[in-house]
Formats: sequence, C-alpha cells, structure tokens
Amino acid sequence: MSAALEVSPPLLAKLTALSGDLSATHDLDLLLNRILSEARELASAEAGSIFLLQEGRLRFCYVQNDLLYPGSAPARQYVGEEMAVDQSSLAGFAAATGETLVIDDVYLLGPERPYVFNRSFDEASGYRTRSMLVAPLTTSQGRNVGVLQIINAKNAQGEVVPFGEREKLWVKFYAHHAAMAVERAQLTRELILRMISIAELRDPQETGAHVNRVGGYAAEIFEAWATARGAGAEEIKKRKDLIRVAAMLHDVGKVAVSDNILKKPGRLDAAEFQAMQYHTVAGARLFKETGSELDSVARDIALNHHERWDGKGYPGRLPGLEATWRGPATGKKGEESPPEARITALADVYDALTEARSYKEAWPESRVLDLINQERGAQFDPEVVDAFFAVYDLIQLVRGRFHY
Ligand SMILES: [Fe+2]
Ligand SMILES: [Fe+2]
Repeated sequence: MSAALEVSPPLLAKLTALSGDLSATHDLDLLLNRILSEARELASAEAGSIFLLQEGRLRFCYVQNDLLYPGSAPARQYVGEEMAVDQSSLAGFAAATGETLVIDDVYLLGPERPYVFNRSFDEASGYRTRSMLVAPLTTSQGRNVGVLQIINAKNAQGEVVPFGEREKLWVKFYAHHAAMAVERAQLTRELILRMISIAELRDPQETGAHVNRVGGYAAEIFEAWATARGAGAEEIKKRKDLIRVAAMLHDVGKVAVSDNILKKPGRLDAAEFQAMQYHTVAGARLFKETGSELDSVARDIALNHHERWDGKGYPGRLPGLEATWRGPATGKKGEESPPEARITALADVYDALTEARSYKEAWPESRVLDLINQERGAQFDPEVVDAFFAVYDLIQLVRGRFHY
C-alpha cells in the first residue's frame, strides 16, 4: 500500500480542518505558535522550530520543546538567530531545494550529505536532537516563506524514534497550508505597519516598535485576564489574535490631528489638548461598525484606550461617533469601556513609561510597576492589573523581541 493511501478519512478530515482553521488567524506570532503545536501533534514530536525567510536569510523565530520548556510554548517564541539559504544547513537545504528531509539521527549524517547538523543549540541546552523532519514552507505560487522543523518523534512508549513516511506526508501537506497562512498573516502585519507609518509621520512617538510591543503586551494580558474569568480555550485563542492586531492600531487616529499639535514640544493648552483627544474618535471612525470582528475590536480600542477605570478618562460617553467633535463628554467608568480597551490602556501606558522618548527619559522599571500598583482601581481595571503581573515574564519577552 502506498503511503498516500494510509491517510485515513478521519485523519484527512482533521488535516483539512486544521489547515482551514489556520486562515482564521490574523496575527503572525500566534499563527506560528499554532503551526508548531499542530505539526508536532500530527507527527507526535517532542520539539520543533520555525524559521522565517527575512531579507534573504532564514531567521529562527519560534521554538517549542516539551522536554526543555514543558507547557510554556508561548514563553519560548521570542528567539533570534539567522542562517543562509544554502545547502550547508538542514533548514537552508529545505528552503533552497524545496525538498522535505527525513533524518533518523542527525548526529549520524553521512559525509555524502551537503549539509551538517548544527549542534550549538544541543550543546548549550543539553538537549539531544535525534530524528528530524524538515519541511519547507512553500506557497502554491512556489514562494518559500520559511522552514518548519519537527524534532524527535516519539512512540507510544515515549521513546524517540525515526519519523515515518506517513508523518512526512502529513507534515508536508500541513506545511503547504501553513505557508499560505503565514504569507497572509505577514501581509496583514505589513499593512498595519504601513498604516502606522503614516500615523508615525505625524507623531514620531508612534513607531512600529511601540505598536508591536503594545499589541504583544495586550495579547498576553488578555490571555491571563480571560483565563482568570474562566473563558474557554478556543474563545481565548480567537480573541487573543484579534486584540494582538487591533491593539497595534490604537493611535491610528492621530493621522487626523494637526502637526503643530502632535509635534509641539511644550505643554498643550486646553484647546490644543481637546484637538489631540480627537484622535480617539478619528481612529474609531476608520473602522466600520458593521465590519468584521477585527473592525469591531479595533474600533473599541481606538475609541476607548484613554478611558480610565475611575471615569476620569476621555472621550467619554459621546452621543455618537459621527457627530462633530466638540470635545470630550463625561468619562466612561469601569466596565463601560470594553475589556480590550481597558487592557490596551495599561499596555500603552506601560510602554510609554518604560521607553525613552525624544522629550523624556525612560522611567526605572520599579517606578513604573509602583505606579501601576497605585493606579489599580483608579486609572486601571484591577483585574487587568492582576493579569499584567501574572504574565510579567511574558511581557519582558515581548519587550526584548521588539526592541529596535
Ligand atoms: Fe492614544
Ligand atoms: Fe501609543
């Protein structure tokens, strides 16, 4: 029987469902995490990693390893090394040739092979990589976007064994769909960064790095907040993706605020401050009320990210978004502001204070954390503050990743 015939109908249904589901994920980081988890599950593998093609080189973007980092896949997403797209490495070979490699033991590669296995990760971590399945992430147009590596297949007894033809087939099929989802998510992120670069022309503080960090912080805080509230895993996965993308757009309404206000070095007077506050309404107007779920979350966040838990924020309870802007109304209190906005409010303030800006130094970390604690129940939703501290280690990983 050929390997292709061994794909049983239930498995085929699962593969198809998994692949279809991938296209519903907008955010690139969350997508990579998902691809790696699902590909490992398909091949019963202990570990795996993903490289993405960036500026002609393969960049090590994601790693999961049940032995080294049990249960903490998202914590390990922020890694950085690079390699060339050539035949000297396993991932380089797969990307350069489009071939899927199946290797029983990477320490026993014959000299006839053009590539060698790089043991530096094993040497640094004490891990022993043995069997490997290396699949290029190639779209239907034949464009390579990266490489998926699945490491150490396990049998029912938990022993490391070689990958079989079946796993190769499944992972190859899956990798093809994953490649298209990666391409789409990269496009979404590029489009958002382009929108942001327009806002950045107006407001130099609103950089790609700032919005990437705010999106990353908001997503991690959201997961902890929603978990504490008892939300289901599927719902969390979906909303986390939406907030990750939508939070990046929190200040996009600054395109509608004039340069002399945005770039004014000193304090704003009352009229200028009111013109500045308009960025919340202007941003919300960019997203249709009747649009997609992403539109609706982006609209909520843009409008409400300056509201405060104690009701002293802006723009407040406006009669409607379309009315002429005449300044803020009474602030929304507590849960009148949507959770995604309450979360983004904290993420945005944390980033603004911990990073230096042209007109101010960064605050020391301890001072920022003190302020967040002090404002628990005043400026910030207490549950959101608790969620922030619960994922503080992940916040630091996001920060390290988007520091440029
Ligand atoms: Fe803002
Ligand atoms: Fe911001």
